[in-house]
Amino acid sequence: MKASAPGKVILFGEHAVVYNRPALAVPVNQVQVEVEVSESSQPGIRIQAPIIGLTSDLASLPSDHPIGSVILKTIQHVGVSPLPNLSIQIQSTIPVAAGLGSGAAVSVALVRALSSFLDHPLPNEDINNLVFEIEKLHHGTPSGIDNTVITYNMPVYYIKGQPIETFKCGKPFTLVVGDTGIPAPTKESVGDVRRLWLRETIRFEEIFNEIAQISLIARRSIESGKPDLLGEMMNHNHELLQQLTVSSPELDNLVDASKQAGALGAKLSGGGRGGNMIALVKQASAESVAEALISAGAKRTIITEVK
Ligand code: PMV
Repeated sequence: MKASAPGKVILFGEHAVVYNRPALAVPVNQVQVEVEVSESSQPGIRIQAPIIGLTSDLASLPSDHPIGSVILKTIQHVGVSPLPNLSIQIQSTIPVAAGLGSGAAVSVALVRALSSFLDHPLPNEDINNLVFEIEKLHHGTPSGIDNTVITYNMPVYYIKGQPIETFKCGKPFTLVVGDTGIPAPTKESVGDVRRLWLRETIRFEEIFNEIAQISLIARRSIESGKPDLLGEMMNHNHELLQQLTVSSPELDNLVDASKQAGALGAKLSGGGRGGNMIALVKQASAESVAEALISAGAKRTIITEVK
């Protein structure tokens, strides 16, 4: 039994989403996790995940191991016993710890493949809830946007604690994702923003409100088939993220380089300080913007069509 899950990028609203403002995120299907579950002649559950150099039996993993906990929670949820001997293969082209949701994608594909193999294929709602539980174990207080967009593999308008709203694009558009290659733990930037928000609550609340407005208008532009309008909104959202102190010289440099190479707009995406930026481009200039990003120091680029 095979299942897959895409990567994701946040288009608008990172950080503000932690303070109950809306955020928009979209799947990135150019990168994928694939999980294959099969019956094995060896006793127990054997896991192979070459991307993180893991070959192990479930029983030998520490009890808080992310992959081990996904497997245990899924088995518990579907309530199958006795368990067959299993072999689980995990392959991924999603860069790890780069803000592209690799952890959530592994969890989603794993829950999907394993529950289907055990003859209890779970609906997206259950998969999303289970994976959110796992995300909470490993990332402190995640907003839940990663697991949602990756589970549903659709653009998501996300407000913490509210029913999930997926939406459709009126017209496809092209993004170039540029990776600074600088690891940036989201927990740290989220913690720093919280400390600043406590000191300057009124100013930060105003910034979050402006970002919320952008997410709202951006969603309408995407749904009504006017994605070109997103460029200006990305530039504005990036400035507001700079005010939240979560940009960095490297991110600003890639944002500027993409615009000089013809992008319609650009911003950092995700936790910030390092990780990724995204640029909105006309399809015809995607390659040249990607090249300009590499020349400006990006470690990797992904061109993705949002549909
Ligand atoms: O760095 P990423 O892609 O995991 O995104 C973090 C987004 C934040 O809004 C900063 C945090 C969150 O949990 O939503």
